Amino acid sequence: MTEPYIQLKNVDKIYLTKTDAIEAVRDVTFDINESELVAIVGPSGCGKTTILKMVAGLVSHTGGTITIGGKIVDRPQTDLGIIFQDAVLLDWQDVLSNVLIQINIRGMDQSEYEQKARELLKDVGLDGFETKKPYELSGGMKQRVSICRALVHEPPLLLMDEPFGSLDALTREQISMDIQRLWMEERKTALLITHSIPEAVLLADRVIIMSPRPGRIVDIKKIDLPRPRRWDSLDMKFNEYTGEIRKVFQQQGVLALR
Ligand SMILES: Nc1ncnc2c1ncn2[C@@H]1O[C@H](COP(=O)(O)OP(=O)(O)OP(=O)(O)O)[C@@H](O)[C@H]1O
Ligand SMILES: [Mg+2]
Repeated sequence: MTEPYIQLKNVDKIYLTKTDAIEAVRDVTFDINESELVAIVGPSGCGKTTILKMVAGLVSHTGGTITIGGKIVDRPQTDLGIIFQDAVLLDWQDVLSNVLIQINIRGMDQSEYEQKARELLKDVGLDGFETKKPYELSGGMKQRVSICRALVHEPPLLLMDEPFGSLDALTREQISMDIQRLWMEERKTALLITHSIPEAVLLADRVIIMSPRPGRIVDIKKIDLPRPRRWDSLDMKFNEYTGEIRKVFQQQGVLALR
């Protein structure tokens, strides 16, 4: 059997501030196979963003090991795409340049990737907007640009931190469908952080459930539903999965029945 693409083994994180030591996550062990989409759900402050940043090598871990493709993560990783909660685009650059920003920063040949950028923009319904500036776009459109930006250099790994967090409900549904479609086309290994149990079940192969801080893994559910999964045709099994995950949170005291 081939090794999982990403492995976290007994990972701890304690943030040291001037006055405090904040234990963010404790003894986190999980893996992600190649071409698998794994979601993490957990209450606010349980260390989800911390895990994503540790995988990206942007934050150091204080215990345990993290490997990507068999290599220890001990510095910022370059071979991945990240989508954050807010789009964070450069307002003085147009849409196409924003998508290509990584290519330029990395000194790669822009002409080689321009076609890919245009295709991605088309795929998320933004053809015709290539020369617009970010301030001329809605929040949902900006987030779509940031999705294209994360994918344009064809990284083997996609990290998403609450990519729908700042969007309205309808746009969230649409963009989750965009992400599903792009993921099905490209089959990248992906980690999705979300607060939303239905979004996790809709998109993921497995859902990791975390406890309140210090975040520990309390359960991992395999989601055995055929794709594409659609918001307008969810079946009993979907509700069973979301119900099971809610139950785990209730047992943790995260969701109270009142
Ligand atoms: N740079 C930092 N320095 C000190 N403490 C930090 C730092 N970053 C995060 N923390 C703390 O670590 C804990 C986990 O934070 P993190 O942002 O990972 O949570 P989260 O699960 O992503 O929360 P949310 O769902 O609200 O985004 C929190 O208690 C937070 O205050
Ligand atoms: Mg977070």
